[in-house]
Amino acid sequence: MNVKVTGGGMIKGNVSCSGAKNASIPLLCASLLAKGKVLLRNVPRISDVFDICGILKRLDCKVVFKGHTMLIDNTNLKYRPLLFEECQRIRGSYYLIGVFLTLFSKCEILLPGGCKIGARPIDIHLEAFSDLGYEYQITDNVLWVYKKKAVKEANIVLKNKSVGASINACFAGLSLNHFVMHNILFEPEGKDVLDFLNKLGYPVVLNDDNIAYTKKNLEFKLTKHTIVSDRIEAITYMVLGLLAGDITIKKIETKNLETPLKILKDAGYNVLYNDSEIHAKKSIGAPMEVKTEVYPGFPTDAQSMFGVLFARTTGKSSMQEAIFENRMHIYYDLLDSGVECLIKNNKAIVEGTKTIYLKNYKAYDLRHGAALLLLALSNEGEALISNFDYVLRGYDDFINKIRALGGKIEII
Ligand code: EPU
Repeated sequence: MNVKVTGGGMIKGNVSCSGAKNASIPLLCASLLAKGKVLLRNVPRISDVFDICGILKRLDCKVVFKGHTMLIDNTNLKYRPLLFEECQRIRGSYYLIGVFLTLFSKCEILLPGGCKIGARPIDIHLEAFSDLGYEYQITDNVLWVYKKKAVKEANIVLKNKSVGASINACFAGLSLNHFVMHNILFEPEGKDVLDFLNKLGYPVVLNDDNIAYTKKNLEFKLTKHTIVSDRIEAITYMVLGLLAGDITIKKIETKNLETPLKILKDAGYNVLYNDSEIHAKKSIGAPMEVKTEVYPGFPTDAQSMFGVLFARTTGKSSMQEAIFENRMHIYYDLLDSGVECLIKNNKAIVEGTKTIYLKNYKAYDLRHGAALLLLALSNEGEALISNFDYVLRGYDDFINKIRALGGKIEII
């Protein structure tokens, strides 16, 4: 899908955050572990969620998705090889591996796809599965994981910090009587997943440097859960407000945004917030030096949006991307749009300017696409953005929310 954006207008109004993409995907997969039905609220209507729903339906689950509420009934769930195209379209399909290992002791799946922001191997997941008694093989893009030995208790250390592997190893460990896992990484979305597992009846405890679990018998019940709001969506609208207008962002747990909020406040931006709302008003701040880090550090998913903000500061700002190898596309677009920008070794130094010349752009990943939209909306002129489908994978009702704020965006 391509969109045409007419920039330079005032962007003003209120916008409510939706449920977080990176919590919804593991939560939907984890609903297969429920004994009874699951009612999820605040589910974002994004294509990654529709893809996971498609997979659940192919496994004979009933899924009713109305508005932002979803009812999942896994009574008729059947084991099937996960050789569906949806598995390759999205990255988060890998959460089905951990879930399947607990439910069926095996999983055959097309290797997960997703945004092309680096090599994105799954070796940390696979090593954790091995430590939990599983063996795996990869042939022709199909991963086959199966039980090698019956492990009842485990004390494992993940090879490296990984959001996805921490959640996935936890899912795979739920068939054990007891586990402790070290070197784990639970961002707000992962913590939401742990909260959900506890509601389902899996008592996983998050300690300072590990998660621990001791099996309990599951009760048959209806589990209700409201998904945590999307902190990256909030940052996207906040940066848009700072660049182009006056936006109040509602329904967001600002405690999950401490680092980006502090960076902006320290640079002098006009940002006000309380526990659940942010007000961002057009302003020009001082240059910033930012490095992406694991939570609670500055999130890699917000890096591209800050790049656009850097182009409007008064001086040189820098961004070091330290999580993914290939996530610097926006800086090349800034360069092509007349912004002075030095890009080397995943670091960009951007000189703020008043004149940015919009052109036609191509989104290479979800967050890059969102940043391109901010760039186009906040500068005079017209821009065509191709590959915009990427953005709809992760932003709920994006085009309508932008239009409601006064943004001029047309689907071509
Ligand atoms: N990595 C490995 N081996 C693994 C797993 C990860 O080398 O087995 C590397 C990755 O290639 C990356 C780094 O470790 O360089 C961190 O990856 P991590 O596993 O922490 O991230 P992820 O689970 O792949 C999730 C989100 C990302 C988000 C990151 C960090 C999902 C589906 N994806 O990715 O979301 O950037 O955590 O918060 O939850 C996005 O929303 O745009 C997005 C890319």
